[in-house]
Amino acid sequence: MPSAASGFPLSNGVKIPCIGLGTWQIPDNQELVRHIHKAVEIGYRHIDTAHIYGNERSVGEAVRTCGMPRDKIFVTSKLWNADRGYKETLAAFDTTLKTLGLDYLDLFLIHWPAARGEAMTWQSINSGTWRAMEEIYESGRVRSIGVSNFLIHHLVPLLARARIAPMVNQLEFHPGYMQAPTVEFCQSRGIQVEAWSPLGRGALIHHPLLSEIGAKYGVTGAQVALRWALQHGAIVLPKSMNAERLKQNTELFGFSISSEDMAAIDAMPQTAFSGLDPDHVTF
Ligand SMILES: NC(=O)c1ccc[n+]([C@@H]2O[C@H](COP(=O)([O-])OP(=O)(O)OC[C@H]3O[C@@H](n4cnc5c(N)ncnc54)[C@H](OP(=O)(O)O)[C@@H]3O)[C@@H](O)[C@H]2O)c1
Repeated sequence: MPSAASGFPLSNGVKIPCIGLGTWQIPDNQELVRHIHKAVEIGYRHIDTAHIYGNERSVGEAVRTCGMPRDKIFVTSKLWNADRGYKETLAAFDTTLKTLGLDYLDLFLIHWPAARGEAMTWQSINSGTWRAMEEIYESGRVRSIGVSNFLIHHLVPLLARARIAPMVNQLEFHPGYMQAPTVEFCQSRGIQVEAWSPLGRGALIHHPLLSEIGAKYGVTGAQVALRWALQHGAIVLPKSMNAERLKQNTELFGFSISSEDMAAIDAMPQTAFSGLDPDHVTF
């Protein structure tokens, strides 16, 4: 029976567990350390953090002290926007690794692309950043590299100059906001999609269609949203601070959503969109 630890293979052969624990907005303290220990006990083997979340210190401490060998936990962090550029990226990676207190990362992502809003320089900023990501990968201190919030028009120039293609693109992806063109573009090029805010930051959990479909399968609307993303081949990164819901979010393998129900969810009008358009975010 598959579990939260079941792996999706990345283009370089590294296996990435299909359910990761989201940690955005969780403060950097002992509660987070205990929370990650609990998640590992439940079966999570993948933790998603970022420099900007400000909690890498506790995430690293939890990974080091959770009782599992380091190579059994997949750890992702992300390069913040202020650190874009070749030299800055190399330095920021060192800081991230040091803050985590780990010898290596499993996945390092460019958090947001430099984008059209940034005059004429955005493509060269992204490719300079990516050149550093490639070097870090080749140094062996990260097992895989990728991007986040890159749309097709950000990926095309990056891919044209890249020696190593991104292995992952982490995107907002949930019922009511599935970004199908970008997902199809990534999947046709072997770039693994990860779904951020897979529950629409909680806004989808009582959605009538998801609850109705969930009732058929004896699961919650939240589980339908997560299973829907997995059936689309996306890794899910749900966040919960509640032990029961943490467990519920891993119980996605005892049912399968029919193709009719998948199509009905795909057809939902835009719902729970964060409003964060990578070309227009102001951070
Ligand atoms: N790359 C990016 O730019 C980016 C952007 C945003 C997020 N992310 C990543 O994606 C992760 C997840 O996204 P998110 O934190 O925005 O939100 P989310 O996972 O979509 O939703 C979290 C909310 O849903 C509730 N919840 C969780 N499981 C539930 C369940 N089974 N039933 C009912 N309610 C449930 C949680 O409340 P309780 O805690 O009370 O359960 C919380 O309020 C982040 O933590 C972060 O790691 C990445």
